[in-house]
Parts: sequence; structure tokens; C-alpha cells
Amino acid sequence: MPTSPQSPEQPNPLETLIRREIARQGPMPFARFMDLALHHPEHGYYAKPEPVVGTEGDFLTSPALHPAFGRALWRQIDEMAGLLDASKPVTVLEIGAGAGQMARDILAAARAAGKAGSVRYLIREQSRRLRQQQAETIAASWADAPVAWVDSLEAARPVQVVVMNELMSALPVHRLIYEDGAWREIHVDVRDGALTLVPGPVTDPRAPAAVAQAGIEPRPGQVVDVNTAAADMLVRIAGCLDERAFILNIDYGGPAQLVYSPARPQGSLRCYYKQARVSDPLARIGRQDLTADVDFDLLARTAASLGLASLGPVPQGAFLVNLGIEQEAVELAARARRGDLAADLELQKVYALYAPEALGRSFWVMVHTRGFPQPPRLRGLAPAPVPRTYVDLLLGGG
Ligand SMILES: C[S@@+](CC[C@H](N)C(=O)[O-])C[C@H]1O[C@@H](n2cnc3c(N)ncnc32)[C@H](O)[C@@H]1O
Repeated sequence: MPTSPQSPEQPNPLETLIRREIARQGPMPFARFMDLALHHPEHGYYAKPEPVVGTEGDFLTSPALHPAFGRALWRQIDEMAGLLDASKPVTVLEIGAGAGQMARDILAAARAAGKAGSVRYLIREQSRRLRQQQAETIAASWADAPVAWVDSLEAARPVQVVVMNELMSALPVHRLIYEDGAWREIHVDVRDGALTLVPGPVTDPRAPAAVAQAGIEPRPGQVVDVNTAAADMLVRIAGCLDERAFILNIDYGGPAQLVYSPARPQGSLRCYYKQARVSDPLARIGRQDLTADVDFDLLARTAASLGLASLGPVPQGAFLVNLGIEQEAVELAARARRGDLAADLELQKVYALYAPEALGRSFWVMVHTRGFPQPPRLRGLAPAPVPRTYVDLLLGGG
């Protein structure tokens, strides 16, 4: 298993803290390590001063790629708002807003539709630095945008629409390894002076239970990453909802059979640094991103236990096509055919958001509803037409 030798130069403050905790308490579950590496308020990845999301950061997200994503989301939120109590403004809560592009684009679309007055946009962001960046991003587009930040999920209560993009995949996962006919959990220990991944006891019984629920027959040595923190987050979100409400969740992952498939023997954990995928989760502690897939079946079961209905998951591509994103691509392609190079570049980004060969099938969308006797049919989750190929778009056919 990978090891990380102690740097002879500057000691990494987070690594020092982790080593001390291991010295005091013994091997640390990987989930605890990931939580500290990403979310330590001072030294964690999301607190670092350098950009995280975007071309200058370590990874791109859909809202960072193109505003067409936020505009499509607005169309879904607008439909949801129409199904709620029309006599009061709809409170939208975004959790984990990154660099703030999705909030900016949803708000701009609401304004363009003449509905700015009917939306109250709240953001719950744990990183102080990102909060500041979000405020700057939104103010640069709309100085008086109706947006406010809350210090806890509970402070946003009662919320009618919750939106999240790539939030849950940023939560810590339990890494399990199948050895001698049983699941063990991967811990971080210090061996020969280096941080090392070692098998240890399972610390959250919900993790192997989630894999068993998927009917997976694990192979010897198979690793799975189980995000039980996502289920905990859903419980907290449910506690903040109004009597009638929606939760719109977009993330990596999918049905459990896919997430824990033996065809992915090394699990779904991925590390990103400066736009490149890197392999060692113990390297650059607090400086590289760690992320893993979300088990949407676990979320649906958790939702059911909370009295919420679930719709989906559907692939992001189908969701966006249903919400009219292809029309933006068609218009850009028409301009590109007339020699507009900027439109051509934009077209590539918009297409990447929904194309099955790009982000359209890597991300999934799930909606939970509360307070509807029959879960409403939503435009984004309807069966989607097959989109035109890129070549068809450029040729003006399809
Ligand atoms: C991968 S980034 C996604 C950012 C943004 N949604 C996007 O798509 O560009 C994860 C975001 O979630 C935030 N975050 C992670 N855990 C959180 C929590 N428990 N509460 C609030 N925000 C959280 C991070 O600080 C960061 O803004």
C-alpha cells in the first residue's frame, strides 16, 4: 500500500497533527484522515489560499465550465417553485458553493426571467476562504444579488429548494478492503516513520451493509469507498426543509451496483492536483483534492427512512437536455458555422456538460421531495431524447 515519507524540509502542519493523533489513539480510519485532509478549518484542502475549482485550480466542475449549467438548473428550480406555495418567495439553499459560479448563474437566470424578487438565495459554505470568493464572483455579476450566507444548515430553515453540485463527493469515505472472506477498513498508521495504509477493524457498520445491499459479490483484495457521510448530510438537510420542499443533488457516482462494482477493484477514490489525476492519497496532505463516488441507492434508502420520495438518479446529460441546454448548443453551433471562434470554444464547453462521452454520464442527478402526496413529474427527470452529436451540431443537422 502507498506510503508517504516525512518531508525532510518544511513539516506539513496537517501531517504533524495527523501523526500526533495516531501516536495518541492508534491507526486512524481513512475517513478521519480524509476529513482532516479536506476539511480541517486551517490546514485542510478547502481552506488553502490557492484556487481550488476552475482552470487555475486543481479540478473543473460543471458550473466552472460554463454558465449554461446554472441556467439549466434555474429552469428546474423555476418549475419546482411553481409547485410550491406561490404566495412567498422561494428559499433556495446551495450547499458547498465552491467558487460561486453556480449561484451567480442561477441568480442571473432568475433575474433575466424577471423573477429575482421571488427568490431568496442562501449559501452554506464551510470554507471561510471560499465564502469570500463566492461573494466576489456573485458581486462581479450582480452587486445587489439577493444572496446571503448562513453559518449552519439549520440557520437556513425552512428551505424549499436545496441544490448541491459535487458536495457529497467531497465528504470523507470509509475505504473497505475484502480480505479472507470479510471486509476490513483501511486505516492510516505510521510504519518505519512513514504514513502507511493498513487494514484494520470496520468503524461504521453501515459501510459493509451498503455494499451488501447492492448484492455485490466482492473479489479478494477488492477495495470499495462508502460515503456514509453523504447519508448523514441528507439527514441534516431533511431537518431544515419546509413542509413542501425539494432537494436537487448532482454528483459523481450512481446506483450502488456501479459504485461498488468488482470491475472497479481499487474503489472510486481519486486524487487531483493541478488538473492532473495523481495516485497517492497520502501525498500533499491538505494540498490535493480527494474525492469518491456517491452511492445514490444509499441516499434513496436514507430519504425513504426520512419520509422523503426520491426521483432518479438520471445521468446529468439527460437532465440538462431535458432542461433545454441543447438549444444553447444549437445556437452556438450556428454562430460557429459563420466563423465565430469564440462561439466555437463555448460550444465545446456547453457540449461537454451534457455529452455522454464527456460529463453527461459521469455525473448523476437525484431529486428528493417532501410533502407531495404524489411525487411531482419534473421536467429534468423525464425520459430524454438522444442529443445530436458534435458533428451534427457543427454541420447544422441531426
Ligand atoms: C468539490 S467542491 C464543489 C464546488 C461547487 N459546488 C462546484 O460545483 O463548483 C465542494 C464544495 O463543498 C464545500 N463543502 C464540503 N463539505 C461541506 C460541508 N460539510 N458544508 C458546507 N460546505 C461544504 C467545499 O468547501 C466546496 O465549496
